[in-house]
Amino acid sequence: MFFAGFLCCLFCLFLVRVSNGGKCTTLSLPNAFSGLQKTFNSSVGTQVPFEAPEDVPYRRPDAVDTFADYKYRAACNISSQELHAPFSPLCQDRQSVLTAMSSGGRIGKDAPFMPRGCDMRWFNTAEVCEILSRFDRVIITGDSMMRHLIGSLNVLIRQDLGYGAVTDWNFSPDERKECFCNNQFNVKGCSVQGIYKTADVMEHDPMSVACDAGTINVAIEEIIRFPIPPDEIERFKTSLPSTKPNRPVAFVMGHGLWNDLDLQASVNWLDKLMETTTIKMPWLNEPGAFFPRLMLTPNAAGIGKPTEWRALQGNEALMEFEESVKVEAAKRGVEHLGTWNMSAQASKYDGTHLDLRGNLVKGMMVMNWLNMLDVERY
Ligand SMILES: *[C@@H]1O[C@H](CO)[C@@H](O)[C@H](O)[C@H]1NC(C)=O
Ligand SMILES: *[C@@H]1O[C@H](CO)[C@@H](O)[C@H](O)[C@H]1NC(C)=O
Ligand SMILES: *[C@@H]1O[C@H](CO)[C@@H](O)[C@H](O)[C@H]1NC(C)=O
Repeated sequence: MFFAGFLCCLFCLFLVRVSNGGKCTTLSLPNAFSGLQKTFNSSVGTQVPFEAPEDVPYRRPDAVDTFADYKYRAACNISSQELHAPFSPLCQDRQSVLTAMSSGGRIGKDAPFMPRGCDMRWFNTAEVCEILSRFDRVIITGDSMMRHLIGSLNVLIRQDLGYGAVTDWNFSPDERKECFCNNQFNVKGCSVQGIYKTADVMEHDPMSVACDAGTINVAIEEIIRFPIPPDEIERFKTSLPSTKPNRPVAFVMGHGLWNDLDLQASVNWLDKLMETTTIKMPWLNEPGAFFPRLMLTPNAAGIGKPTEWRALQGNEALMEFEESVKVEAAKRGVEHLGTWNMSAQASKYDGTHLDLRGNLVKGMMVMNWLNMLDVERY
């Protein structure tokens, strides 16, 4: 008798959490849940809350596998439809797409990413080329996360899931075996083979680029921490045009982990880069100048994050950093793209870096920002 009562109370505590001065209150579970059963209507359940994407030609690429004709599509087995699930409405302006992408998520681990409230586009390669061609150049600055970003853009413009992110034109047979599909990013030895400039691809393997020759220019300057060494500042300066080009220059920056998410260091890093930029490109100081700048914060940490970095670079620190950088960037006229929510439920092979799939989503987010820039103002 005592034993039965004890079990009953355990049941109460753990399942229905009803306790009445230590005595067990009898609660019939079917009755307790019957209200819910009555209101559930299976004919509407699955259609809420997402609506199908608008049935207009502009959104067609969103609803197909844009990788269908990419090289190594079958071997790498990645469909664009696994990376992003389209819905309506489409975001109508840059601020709403940035907010939607920064606060979106996934319905389960490695499920397709969905921005929050309104959708982003999933561009096909022709669209990616057209958007990049609106700019004299797109300058990416940052660490390995940003190198993976330019890697993913190279996958898109080279239509190659197997080797698009790496300098496969000079690969040994071993590297061809090692640095393939996800391993372009996941294997440490392959990171030195990452592509830093679309100009290098144009020089060494022009046939691999889907965009017309001379129309696009995307490059990364690796500047990982503050203080920035003088030779890195010089290298950065060299990458900037010295006379005003016919098309605008867009800046995509990412910083954080190499300064252990120290907000002040990131702000100093950003200020130093912007100061250097406006010295070399003084026309950007003119009132109302078109000066598109985007700051990315690091993605979420995964289970594989090494123990010694968990306190300073763990998820609490990353979340706080993302929120703070957004505020500091806005004060400087720099737009912000958060990647924590997008990546929280995505595979991170070493606890820090997203795999090829996650980086393709990041790359497409940046393409959405570039697409929304009002280049006519230039
Ligand atoms: C369930 O929803 C559908 C569609 O809105 C509606 O036609 C139907 O009457 C609902 N069924 C019940 C039992 O409420
Ligand atoms: C390819 O990926 C799909 C979806 O993730 C999976 O269901 C399928 O088994 C994979 N095929 C191969 C050959 O790995
Ligand atoms: C995640 O999304 C929420 C809104 O849903 C947003 O407030 C937050 O800044 C985003 N980033 C982090 C790290 O939580």
